[in-house]
Amino acid sequence: MITKDIHKAKTVLLKNDIIAIPTETVYGLAGNAYEEEALKKIYLLKKRPLNNPLIVHIHSLEQLHDVAEEIPEMALHLAKTFWPGPLTLILKKRANIPYIVTSGKETVAVRMPGHQLTLDLLQQLDFPLAAPSANPYGSISPTSAAHVEHYFKEQLEVILDGGECERGVESTIIGFLNDQPILYRHGSIALEEIENNIGRVQIQNHSTDQPEAPGMQKRHYAPNTESYLTNNIEDLIRTLPYKKLGVLSFKNSIQHENVIHQIILSKNGDYSEAAKNLFSALHQLDQLNLDAIIAERLPNEDLGRTINDRLERAIQKNPEE
Ligand code: TXA
Ligand code: MG
Repeated sequence: MITKDIHKAKTVLLKNDIIAIPTETVYGLAGNAYEEEALKKIYLLKKRPLNNPLIVHIHSLEQLHDVAEEIPEMALHLAKTFWPGPLTLILKKRANIPYIVTSGKETVAVRMPGHQLTLDLLQQLDFPLAAPSANPYGSISPTSAAHVEHYFKEQLEVILDGGECERGVESTIIGFLNDQPILYRHGSIALEEIENNIGRVQIQNHSTDQPEAPGMQKRHYAPNTESYLTNNIEDLIRTLPYKKLGVLSFKNSIQHENVIHQIILSKNGDYSEAAKNLFSALHQLDQLNLDAIIAERLPNEDLGRTINDRLERAIQKNPEE
């Protein structure tokens, strides 16, 4: 049920059941981060492998010390700068965080979400919320309550409705090795913004079968429709036999008789606007029974990097590579 009632949300969480919560990035599938019973339900409903750890959501800097310890100075500095907001920190976990949250790791992923309704809810709980994105494993992330309902129907007693997600792509993930910062996932804070703050950050955002951050699996955020990613939409269309094409472009419109639906991420070429629209555009195009979706690669800078990362994981076929 879609609702704005945080008391109802709290009641469900206290039964060790799970709910959907809004954040500024994407919706999450949330349960008590201290209770195995609730945590198992998250993995089960999402069909997520147990070796892919969850992010713990907190409401204050004080609460950070309930979940993590030996926190590097630089991590505290980043937390103070970017929280509440779309930054996830990988830190040494405290003993009270069950290993099912961290997939057996000694580190825990933590963030303070920048969404008032969810912060209000967290403040009323005496436990943090573990929450992956509220989509079945491998599919497109949800940026509205309706997306979550479409995926899980009546399997969720409460979908807390916080409107459309302001940022639209997941948090940026930063960890530390010998106190040096490492970027594990491009996200809705651009790498440039983080580097302006703390200097050079090493990037470890590789797609491998056994990644350090398993959310980096290669196939992710995927539409069901056959999809292509390209630097040049018009050239690609000429090589394709399809009559019913959907196009996802950055800022320009495409004229071609085979293109029956077109979404422009940001007419002004604004990266934040493009990021905000990305997943809902993929959801929309995927519902249209198209022969294929063609997405355009963005310039590799700012949030263009994050959007390209998501598109590369979402797209099955790429004739150019
Ligand atoms: O914006 C977000 O981060 C959203 C909202 C709901 O907060 N959440 C989200 O969660 O994107 P999820 O589960 O879809 O992605 C979490 C990522 C995964 O790539 C996971 O592998 C990584 O965080 N992660 C979690 N714990 C980790 C750890 N201890 N070390 C390395 N990576 C970790
Ligand atoms: Mg996810």
